[in-house]
Amino acid sequence: RDNPSWHGRKVLVTAGPTRETIDPVRFFTNRSSGKMGYAIAEEAAARGANVTLVSGPTSLSVPHGVNLISVESAEEMYQTVTACAKDNEMIIKCAAVADYRPKNTFNQKIKKKDGEWEIEMERTQDILKELGANRQPRQTLVGFAAESHDMEVYAKKKMESKNVDMIVANSITSPGSGFQGDTNEVTLFKRNGEVDDVPMTTKVEAAKRILDAAMSIHMERLK
Ligand code: C5P
Repeated sequence: RDNPSWHGRKVLVTAGPTRETIDPVRFFTNRSSGKMGYAIAEEAAARGANVTLVSGPTSLSVPHGVNLISVESAEEMYQTVTACAKDNEMIIKCAAVADYRPKNTFNQKIKKKDGEWEIEMERTQDILKELGANRQPRQTLVGFAAESHDMEVYAKKKMESKNVDMIVANSITSPGSGFQGDTNEVTLFKRNGEVDDVPMTTKVEAAKRILDAAMSIHMERLK
């Protein structure tokens, strides 16, 4: 797996869900297991890259040779990622960052009462969009998209609006693809218009394909 074109390159990978606190015992999260991002981080490290993995809460162990920074909320991930973005020549944003968080969080557990409880939600910051807006000239950015419908339309829009070089789209509706499992079926949409289908395979194998595509984009940029 050792691969000279990756040697010593600083790569930042984000993975997992985020956790948005309501009170000391309750939070909002999503179904991301972190497996796809961890597989990417592990493979990039095995190829010889210097990998930092910023991860939300998962049950996975730290991949060999990877520098793990654990975070919880979207805000923490934003602070961590934006602080170290400049140092990395490739950033792969696999994390399923929460789009909304409770407007108010409580230091004490909210007691149950009769009737309804409304929780007001506010938007979190879009980390990838921020990275795209501040992209370094020799930096390659890869985003992910989990869509249930009109995948191609949304993936291409996302690539433009977030100023990223490639979007890895996974259909969350096809069986054996997307959240939780060990397999994935993805389509790679590249800025130059190329579209690559990666048929259903293990997340480890998908990680290899994603990294190959990301490196060829990066090499073009560095020419
Ligand atoms: O817009 P959408 O959430 O579908 O875009 C997904 C991509 O954007 C992923 O790469 C994800 O990591 C990133 N993202 C982010 N910050 C957010 C929401 C999504 O970096 N607040």
